[in-house]
Amino acid sequence: MTRRYRIAAIPGDGIGPEVMSAAISVLEELADVRGDLSFEFIELQAGDQTKAETGIALPADTLSGVRASDAGLFAAVGDTAKEVVLPLRQDLDLYVNLRPAKSYPNIPNARSSVDIVIVRENTEGLYKRIGYQGRDWGVALRVITRQASERIARFAFELAEHENRRRVTCVHKANVLDSTCGLFVDACRSVADEYPHVEYEEMIVDACAMKLVLTPEHFDVLVTTNMFGDILSDETAGLVGGLGLAPSGNIGKDHAIFEPVHGTAPDIAGKGVANPFAMILSTRMMLEWLGEREAASMVEKAVVDILRDGKTLTPDIGGSANTDEVAAAIREKLN
Ligand code: NAI
Ligand code: MG
Repeated sequence: MTRRYRIAAIPGDGIGPEVMSAAISVLEELADVRGDLSFEFIELQAGDQTKAETGIALPADTLSGVRASDAGLFAAVGDTAKEVVLPLRQDLDLYVNLRPAKSYPNIPNARSSVDIVIVRENTEGLYKRIGYQGRDWGVALRVITRQASERIARFAFELAEHENRRRVTCVHKANVLDSTCGLFVDACRSVADEYPHVEYEEMIVDACAMKLVLTPEHFDVLVTTNMFGDILSDETAGLVGGLGLAPSGNIGKDHAIFEPVHGTAPDIAGKGVANPFAMILSTRMMLEWLGEREAASMVEKAVVDILRDGKTLTPDIGGSANTDEVAAAIREKLN
């Protein structure tokens, strides 16, 4: 029997549509090759161009389209990111932002033996965007709740357990931000007590930023608040070769949206040279979340094979191939 999935696809702006069509072509090939699963893609609008055309960056149809799907794929939107990405995450209660960083072969300037997963709280903190502004001043409120902190910590420990990972590091700034980070650390500690077989440690965010560069192999699962996770995950992406290779998932109880960490890359948009790996590796995470483990491994293996061959790579990782050529090479590997 064929398992059929409705996938909401939001291409967005800039290189978004370029990497989205590459990823969709790979999923369609995967379905053809396997025969036991199929996808129906529902294209939904959001972003700068949508706002220019309709006045709204995230139309209600897009939000309801994602709600009605089995999973969502999102590429990137430009200046309207805060009007699109944050409401999608907060309205659908996608409380986990999962950002793995893994060393792949043949990547220029990348560290070897990195295998880190950042588990970032995705619904509160400073990104709640509650604040006030006067002419010459601004105030932003950082909202941290025990409930959201405990559920993100629990997700981190469950992940460590399922993936046989050895250590969870809680990253914070409780020495200064005692009312917010203090609460976050307290919540992590209480959850850690339920998982005595997983090693648990706490690290102050600035020290962590340095240690990630000095000894990235020390780290395994990092759990942290919204903005720290945003910043540290670009750092970990940098450790393994940059944004062209960094996938992510926004995961809630009922819904999930998978997206590359990168934005619309205005400097290369329209040139057809965007690296589609981050988007394609995001589809791998989606397949895993849908329970399609084997299909997910096939996608990852195809990506690793292409990297190892080193013949069909985009310029950001030292090659001269374009987006379509990379997608075609992946489709060929799937066969
Ligand atoms: P960016 O991620 O778009 O680009 C940063 C640098 O990385 C650029 O040099 C770009 O060429 C390169 N890069 C990014 N993705 C690449 C890929 N797939 N292949 C090859 N090179 C790649 O970040 P930037 O420049 O800070 O932001 C540009 C726009 O994107 C802004 O309007 C921002 O608001 C938006 N943005 C949207 C996000 C989202 O939709 N989730 C996330 C980050 C930024
Ligand atoms: Mg970011």
